[in-house]
Amino acid sequence: MDLFELADDDLTLPENEPGMQLYLDSADPADWERFLPLGVFRGVTTNPVLLERAGQPCTMENIEDLTRQAVEAGCGEIHLQTWGRTATEMINHGSQLALMAGLGIEVLVKVPATETGLRVAEKLAASGCRITLTGIFNPGQVLLAAGFDADFAAPYLGRLNDAGRHGMAAVLKMHDILISTGSTTRLLVASLRSADQVIELASQGLDTFTIGAPVAADLLTEKLTDDAAADFQRAAETMGGASS
Ligand code: G3P
Repeated sequence: MDLFELADDDLTLPENEPGMQLYLDSADPADWERFLPLGVFRGVTTNPVLLERAGQPCTMENIEDLTRQAVEAGCGEIHLQTWGRTATEMINHGSQLALMAGLGIEVLVKVPATETGLRVAEKLAASGCRITLTGIFNPGQVLLAAGFDADFAAPYLGRLNDAGRHGMAAVLKMHDILISTGSTTRLLVASLRSADQVIELASQGLDTFTIGAPVAADLLTEKLTDDAAADFQRAAETMGGASS
């Protein structure tokens, strides 16, 4: 496959839209089938570690198959991460990933925000790819992502905390940089470990998150709502609304 086979029509470049954008951070089709029909998620994000966790081969053939499954599950946008030992390998893989747009889905190519990664991202962007710079751990990298004009910059909150840094403060500073400079790069917070982290960041104005299945399930869990729903059904049946 050749990146330059991409038709102009494949290269839509939407402006940043206001409002909440939630993504499912999983390469497991079972997660997609469970959560995408809820209509809550704009798309899915994946990377080689998520493929490994899902027992999915990191091959172009399998990623193409997975992308087809994502489309069938109703996914409108997928972030696929390139890989490779050299910039050339990463550009080649990224170009092939971008072509998955031909399956009828918006594709963003994820590239780690290393120096090599930026060189790779620049080549891919120059060929019309939309880019998510990923594996971001400090506000300076967000400044670079904004300078690059990346579509998304993905900080890893949980891993920041694991490394003994103040993850929440760092992510909030990243948000401030993008908002105060009027950047079009969108902060896509990843490596979230709980619904409370998402809620806390959202209450401070962050609006774009990619969450794994456990956090998605956590957000969906509210016993009082389940109790209220059961009470509604009981009342409906008491008042003549029994199922026929
Ligand atoms: O997308 C981010 C994810 O792959 C890393 O998160 O779960 O290893 O902290 P985690």
